[in-house]
Amino acid sequence: MKKIRKAVFPVAGLGTRFLPATKAMPKEMLPVVDRPVIQYVVDEARAAGVEHFIFVTGRNKAVIEDHFDRQVELEMTLSERNKKSELVALENDLPGAGTTSFTRQQSPLGLGHAVWCARELVGREPFALLLPDVLVHAKKGCLAQMIEAYLAIGEASNVIAVEEVPDDMTHMYGVVGTGKKRDNAFEITSMVEKPAKGTAPSNLIITGRYILQPEIFDMLSAHERGAGNEIQITDAMIRLSQRQAFYGLKFEGRTYDCGSKLGFLSANVAYALERDDLAPAFRTELQRLLAAK
Ligand code: UTP
Repeated sequence: MKKIRKAVFPVAGLGTRFLPATKAMPKEMLPVVDRPVIQYVVDEARAAGVEHFIFVTGRNKAVIEDHFDRQVELEMTLSERNKKSELVALENDLPGAGTTSFTRQQSPLGLGHAVWCARELVGREPFALLLPDVLVHAKKGCLAQMIEAYLAIGEASNVIAVEEVPDDMTHMYGVVGTGKKRDNAFEITSMVEKPAKGTAPSNLIITGRYILQPEIFDMLSAHERGAGNEIQITDAMIRLSQRQAFYGLKFEGRTYDCGSKLGFLSANVAYALERDDLAPAFRTELQRLLAAK
């Protein structure tokens, strides 16, 4: 079995749900407490053993590339001011030299198209796909849990992170049908993108973390348009599932959809309440605000 060495981060979307904040700034750089959302997701991949980080970017996204590079002037100033802990924190956040690659999607034709744009950089090996606007708050990172499940399954298969939502919300997501249990995971028997109300095969939705075989690129190369006239990754996975096994993993942890305002605000509150330096004062302030409403 080939190791999962590479991870793809599609960051070329327009972030229209966050306008005007995202007019000139990528939504992936919005901070949750004091770290950009994308940093948490890259950290999750690093903790899972990923060695190469592939970003599919677009216009207005150059700041993401800068974020994962050194800022020599800033480092010199911090050093002159003896700000050692800040320097160490910056160093720790940085992926190693030569371990990042950036390619451009050119036009935001959909998530499936963004993934296809990474085909040359990924090559013919299985890879992880992480949607950077989904944060998973978990003791053990979501991707690490998935790689463990993938290795336990022990065959060249595809693994998708899934989570439960209330039945009346399934129509907003990609939903999977569940088959036999296999170790911690289960066989996926069907996938439907945004099923009409009352027709979903389960209440388990596709969450934003995937382990995919390289044949997904062959499916994506048809450039077929799906929902919203976009090239959808779910459509390509449905086609690939006719040839290869797909498994779902109900991971441990809680997700925050930072592409939506509510998810983003909730993530900020949840992550701030975990920080020893912030939590006591923040909790008091939250209680004061809630009492005043
Ligand atoms: P979303 O649909 O959540 O992102 O795609 P969006 O299109 O930027 O957001 P809204 O709906 O307009 O607010 C999920 C992920 O896929 C990337 C996005 O950057 C996001 O991380 N994506 C989406 C691309 O890279 N290219 C695309 O064409 C579409």
